[in-house]
Amino acid sequence: MSAKGITPGPLKPKRIKKPKTSRPIWTPVCFYDKLCPFSSEYRKGSKEQESGTSMKTLIVDDEPISRKILSDLMADFGEVVSTGDGQTAIQLFRDAMASPHPFDLLTLDISMPGMDGRQVLRLIRSLQKAQMAQAQVKTRPLKIIMTSARMNKSVVQECIDLGCDDYMTKPVSPARLQKKLKSLGLRLPGRVKHGETQIHPKVVGKIIEKFNKGSIRLPVLPEIVTQIQDVLNMENPSIDDMVKVVEKDPVISGKLVKIANSPLYRGREAVTDLRAAIVRLGLEATHAAVSAVSSKLLFHSDNASLKKILKEHWTHSFAVACCGKLIAEKISLPNSDTVFLMGITYDLGNVLLLKSIADLSQTASFDDPKLLKAIHEIHTTFGASLLKRWKFPSTFVRLAQIHHWNEYPPGTQTEILVIHLADFLARRIGYGFPGFDINTTDEGTDPALEQGIDQILDLLDIEADTLTRMEEEAKAVIDASGNAF
Ligand SMILES: [Fe+2]
Repeated sequence: MSAKGITPGPLKPKRIKKPKTSRPIWTPVCFYDKLCPFSSEYRKGSKEQESGTSMKTLIVDDEPISRKILSDLMADFGEVVSTGDGQTAIQLFRDAMASPHPFDLLTLDISMPGMDGRQVLRLIRSLQKAQMAQAQVKTRPLKIIMTSARMNKSVVQECIDLGCDDYMTKPVSPARLQKKLKSLGLRLPGRVKHGETQIHPKVVGKIIEKFNKGSIRLPVLPEIVTQIQDVLNMENPSIDDMVKVVEKDPVISGKLVKIANSPLYRGREAVTDLRAAIVRLGLEATHAAVSAVSSKLLFHSDNASLKKILKEHWTHSFAVACCGKLIAEKISLPNSDTVFLMGITYDLGNVLLLKSIADLSQTASFDDPKLLKAIHEIHTTFGASLLKRWKFPSTFVRLAQIHHWNEYPPGTQTEILVIHLADFLARRIGYGFPGFDINTTDEGTDPALEQGIDQILDLLDIEADTLTRMEEEAKAVIDASGNAF
């Protein structure tokens, strides 16, 4: 049944205003509006840059976080223009070439949908040649650095043959970038003051460096979860196959019985043994529940100041997971247990970063707004890498990567929209994340998150008052089920 068919309840519906934006619907918007590089219009600079005395850089990368990291780093040296696609890059390059202030530097991501970095490189070098031949003048030198998450020798050679000057693997650290620019003979102007200066405190820079080298310690997926995944991948998995795996872990077995009896999976009679619990839950929900219980271990630290943050973080993630499951059931999505697990895992990037920072620096202050901002900037990429390594389905990885967008492109998976709505609902009923999340107000709400809600309600065919009526049920389920995990 459509959620629209439900009779309005006594609670007053909260209507959320449509965002006032001229952006096309598929443009993702970051929380730091004034720093947001998600569109090709993104520019940073000062009067000094406008006068043409500092470096002018074009960043081309389809991956928003990488684009933002590079844009912020290069903004220290002058004007930055960035875009996520090759066609726009060519147009921006042409326009600048015809102006008094062409680009000095271009960073070009190799793998992009549509026109890839190599095609853009070939075209830009040929445009330069044509201009030189036509005007019989030497064009202003343009340095081109290719970027990629993975470089192999043959690709590097191909790019060099096509005319690039250098290459860098991502994510890029400030120290490595500066070294690279110097080695290319680029004169680095004095650092430009543009209000928001260093958004990557030293310690986060170090983590990017380590991540880049592959030396960061990513937690491993608990063995029991891997074994459960193996069961699910069997041709005809049975309850007995699942029981055999889970019963090896008495703690998780006990928790599973509690979970099966919690309001989240309520049944008429209490179950008292593991087999009955798995029968009630089903194989998918058993996987989700065991993964959630195992993931909870990640939200623990011996570091006193981190302990509190991680605890709040777990509470928030668990609330999002429960709200996600309830919303999925409300709109009759067949995989509400998968949605539950997505709620538990979508923000693990934050957890991973916080723990890495605590490992690296005993004195790191988790109250430092600069540090929090820097963590926020890159946690989506970290989270996506973790889930990819754990071989989670692509929707989980995608959600981790884009969960801070407040507008979604047509065709975005329904589960991703449900989690966004679940995040909003969880905050509205008091499970926000005010102690850590820099976007969250003292009331636990998140104005940026709310901007996208009308679009999501429309896409999911849910009335705002239906969501309002879910508040009480969601709160009761979260409160009564939390102890089971
Ligand atoms: Fe997040």
